[in-house]
Amino acid sequence: MSTPVTVRVPAKVNVQLAVGPARPDGFHDLANVFLAVSLYDEVTATPAESLRITCEGPDAGQVPLDRTNLAARAAELLAARRGIAPDVHLHIAKDIPVAGGMAGGSADGAGALLACDALWGTGASREELLDICAELGSDVPFSLVGGAALGTGRGERLTELPVGGAFHWVFAVADGGLSTPAVYGEFDRLTADAPEPVASAALLDALRAGDAAALAGALANDLQPAALSLRPSLAETLAAGAGAGALAGIVSGSGPTTAFLVKDAESAAAVAAALTASGTCRAARTATSPAAGATLV
Ligand code: C5P
Repeated sequence: MSTPVTVRVPAKVNVQLAVGPARPDGFHDLANVFLAVSLYDEVTATPAESLRITCEGPDAGQVPLDRTNLAARAAELLAARRGIAPDVHLHIAKDIPVAGGMAGGSADGAGALLACDALWGTGASREELLDICAELGSDVPFSLVGGAALGTGRGERLTELPVGGAFHWVFAVADGGLSTPAVYGEFDRLTADAPEPVASAALLDALRAGDAAALAGALANDLQPAALSLRPSLAETLAAGAGAGALAGIVSGSGPTTAFLVKDAESAAAVAAALTASGTCRAARTATSPAAGATLV
């Protein structure tokens, strides 16, 4: 019997999410600047009679335990490539907000893939792992890689980016989730003639310099108007974070989590306390970036 394998995988925030027009395949071309943050899920793979998913954590009730879970699909894709049965128990210790725009589902896909590769001794190369990740979803390759990266195409083609220092964040977790396809659909409804997406030079410079004030000035999310249109109350959360002294606030990815960039750890604690007291979010979490990608623990 092989010993269980545990992989830790970070959440992400998009410091820039530039969205182009809808493509014929329904996806949108992106210039997607991902930054991994220190909120983590852990995926543990143990040999089993058949594929089984379990989940623990405050939001575990919202996580699908069937084969639509990206962790299950990751095990199936890797097993299919090797002609073996995906007989594994995958246990997810979930700390990343569910359906929150922080790539929690993608994190579990990347984590399960790395865990199964180690458990089964399938010896997949980095390139093959990234290929399978891209098949699983647009954000999954970044969950494997971590750090900071520019995602082009539908977000799956990554160029790693240098980051010159630590950034401090507060995340305001909303009640309930938002559907990513619904937010992109709302983007299409609200946007006429979206230009080709391009990464901002000022933003890449701010990341490279580790300059929080400059990064705050460059944060941009083209999905934010769509997320606010579907969830108008997020404007109150953004206002509460700004009033509490955050350098800048933004909807994280497709939302509804909102992300606040702050000066330092002390400011993070103060902004988190003010957001909690404001009653405009379900919980406030502090984190730092960049964080490492999927890692065996
Ligand atoms: O790739 P993933 O499965 O995460 O995408 C979920 C949904 O988000 C897609 O079905 C699509 O509606 C939308 N999407 C998009 N353009 C992207 C990424 C995602 O329209 N680049």
